[in-house]
Amino acid sequence: MHDDLSSQIETTADIIRARTHRKPQVGVILGSGLSQLVDHIADPTVIPYTEIPAFPNPSVLGHKGELVLGELGGVSLLALRGRFHFYEGYTMQEVTLPVRVMRALGVETLIVTNAAGGLNADWQVGDLMRIRDHLFLPGMAGMHPLRGHNDDRLGPRFPAMLNAYDADLGAMAQAAARRAGATLRDGVYAMLSGPAFETGAEMTFLRAVGVDAVGMSTAPEVVVARHGGMRVLGISLITNIAHPDAPAANHQEVLEAGEAAKPMFSALITDVLQQIAAGAVNEA
Ligand code: HPA
Repeated sequence: MHDDLSSQIETTADIIRARTHRKPQVGVILGSGLSQLVDHIADPTVIPYTEIPAFPNPSVLGHKGELVLGELGGVSLLALRGRFHFYEGYTMQEVTLPVRVMRALGVETLIVTNAAGGLNADWQVGDLMRIRDHLFLPGMAGMHPLRGHNDDRLGPRFPAMLNAYDADLGAMAQAAARRAGATLRDGVYAMLSGPAFETGAEMTFLRAVGVDAVGMSTAPEVVVARHGGMRVLGISLITNIAHPDAPAANHQEVLEAGEAAKPMFSALITDVLQQIAAGAVNEA
């Protein structure tokens, strides 16, 4: 049983290695509505998830489900267009398998992105937020990707999660935003399992405990990335305002809103990659 995970990781990494000679340095997980970044990737090798047996087929509208390897901003990149969500019924292990595979391929830096509801009523749809820290509510309640046997080859039994979001990468993102003339908020992201959006009381609760943005992904992937010793940058696109007095969120809005911010998002990520290529972050 215990070797299932590592054999799944290795089998999947082998499938990808057979398709490219590229050794990806940076991995990017593209959240809802943010997949246009892949259009900027040079010399792309595209592998649909349907050709990767261990990957489930993402069911959510707006998620295409392909892995793209190529070059952007001077670095070798592995981008995931479409992620697996806990609310779709996948286990936390399934949700985080792509991060394990990235690590096995040599990826040292993970850039994780998502669509999120902004809890601050002063924020605008289309704002970008650098994730400073997270509240992993399902994980705190026991739905945790590291629960169960620990494979010491993948990481330690009790990994630290303090400062999970790399300060140097965060500073690079802020520098990139300044250059692009964009506002980059800084805040705490809370992951709820979904798929229901929050009640008013839940929004009020989240605000009271210091949460700035709420979504249904990211935290499990970050925990597994940190378990494997990767550096992490997290960016949320605020697609709606999750405030009791604001109109209720809907999925179409999440996909469409913030359309104007998407070129800015691509420019920001590309700038961060250029900084990584320039060696601004030491290898993990
Ligand atoms: N809540 C939860 N998840 C989300 C939201 C939200 O308001 N917006 C985008 N993803």
